[in-house]
Amino acid sequence: MSDARRLQYLEAMGIQAWAERGAAPAAAGVAEAPGAIAEPAPVSFSTESSIEAGDSDVARLDWDALQARVKGCTLCGLEKTRTQTVFGVGNRSAAWMVVGEAPGADEDRQGEPFVGRAGQLLNEMLWALGLERAEVYIANVLKCRPPGNRDPSPNEVACCEPYLKRQVALIKPKIILAVGRIAAQNLLKTDTRIGALRGRVHRYADTGIPLVVTYHPAYLLRSPLEKRKSWDDLQLAARTFGGGAG
Ligand code: URA
Repeated sequence: MSDARRLQYLEAMGIQAWAERGAAPAAAGVAEAPGAIAEPAPVSFSTESSIEAGDSDVARLDWDALQARVKGCTLCGLEKTRTQTVFGVGNRSAAWMVVGEAPGADEDRQGEPFVGRAGQLLNEMLWALGLERAEVYIANVLKCRPPGNRDPSPNEVACCEPYLKRQVALIKPKIILAVGRIAAQNLLKTDTRIGALRGRVHRYADTGIPLVVTYHPAYLLRSPLEKRKSWDDLQLAARTFGGGAG
């Protein structure tokens, strides 16, 4: 990607002043020392699942079988209100995986994560890092839209968790970017506020895969002044990736 194009996306992220100072953006893969690795906060809420017995079964599925299982899933009740499931999209050998919360109305209609306005900003965040959307894999904690875009319930998250875990196991990303509070808290199994989860490198479950938390693009659209902090998060992720902290 040309510097001019990257600067254009940095501007879209609201970090024009940073760009004007002439510093080069941290491209994905830059070899800098990784940020300090911090352990996730202790588990503080229940993830008891009605389907824990089925977890090991999902853990053996290949991509086609997994996609078919998700498509026909009726475990949590969201099948009653969804238009379709939203499995995930992108490069199945991606080094970068982005995990959001759940499909919204646009995603429910189109069957693809992050296709609405928040998705456009997510694309710009990725471009600012030197990444094309098609290079990364994008998925959500939930594969179905909660009605009215309400927060996912603990049971919905628990029912869907094996699917995301299997996607991570198949992709084996080098880094996971958790976007938004719901994704961060559920991936890290904590109720720590997002502000305290940002700025350090966590590990996803028992995989050891580094995980960096940033704000949800929908929140950044509402609170553009926070974009600068999000850019800090993206740079931390790029340094971590470049430093091979996986
Ligand atoms: N918000 C999310 O968290 N995921 C989507 O796919 C769309 C909006």
